Amino acid sequence: MSLLSAINTDNLPRHLAIIMDGNGRWAKQQGMLRAFGHENGTKSVKTTVEACAKLGIENLTLYAFSTENWNRPKLEVDTLMKLLINSLKKELETLIKNNIRLNSIGNFESLPKSVQKELSEVIERTKNNTRMTLTLALSYGSREEIINAVKKITTKVKNNIISIDSIDESIINNHLYTHNLPDVDLVIRTSGEHRISNFLLWQIAYAEFYFIDVLWPDFSEENLYEAIISYQKRERRFGKTSEQIK
Ligand code: IPE
Ligand code: IPE
Ligand code: MG
Repeated sequence: MSLLSAINTDNLPRHLAIIMDGNGRWAKQQGMLRAFGHENGTKSVKTTVEACAKLGIENLTLYAFSTENWNRPKLEVDTLMKLLINSLKKELETLIKNNIRLNSIGNFESLPKSVQKELSEVIERTKNNTRMTLTLALSYGSREEIINAVKKITTKVKNNIISIDSIDESIINNHLYTHNLPDVDLVIRTSGEHRISNFLLWQIAYAEFYFIDVLWPDFSEENLYEAIISYQKRERRFGKTSEQIK
């Protein structure tokens, strides 16, 4: 029996973020080049996106390419950018059919023009969709995001648009790439690594974590359900005592 029936749809993470890791190791296990792992990783993306939408998750954020990933060999970076363009082209219909809105976070300007163009088009064509917001973190680095926010906020202070005393959590939130998204409730990282790798550092302040040894191309719907079931068994206290929560 599928684990799906064990999920309480009244207690889903409102914002699920996934660090999709392990494509390279998966390919190596098959005696193939890393590109083969990335290609197969796109299948897990499709399965996960559709399963999340079906479940009723409102916000899904996928870490697809970090600011640090630019330091990989040029051939691998080029392959990833090509795969991204192809997936955007291929999956536009899937997004429309499932009423999913595409969003992106990260340093948009640093992406190749061809990626910018395709991404803008899919974002535009899905902008009125309401079932789920799918955010791709592309050329994304949390520290860069925070630096940009600090620059924007200090410029406003300098120009007397806001006062120093008015700076609070909501002002910081409003200057992040994620300004229109709620805080992250659950982070899943595949491949057995237990680290954050510069992902959503501010937004995960009270997130729950789920680390799974499965490599991203092998990540299945059932693995997603396992993660959500684990999340639903936890007591989120936000600093309070257990008695206060009950
Ligand atoms: C995740 O898989 C995809 C990206 C970071 C773009 P990796 O490419 O990091 O795979 P491993 O971690 O080397 O196995
Ligand atoms: C994190 O994976 C980035 C993405 C999944 C896009 P990496 O494979 O780049 O992370 P590290 O370098 O192992 O921490
Ligand atoms: Mg990796």
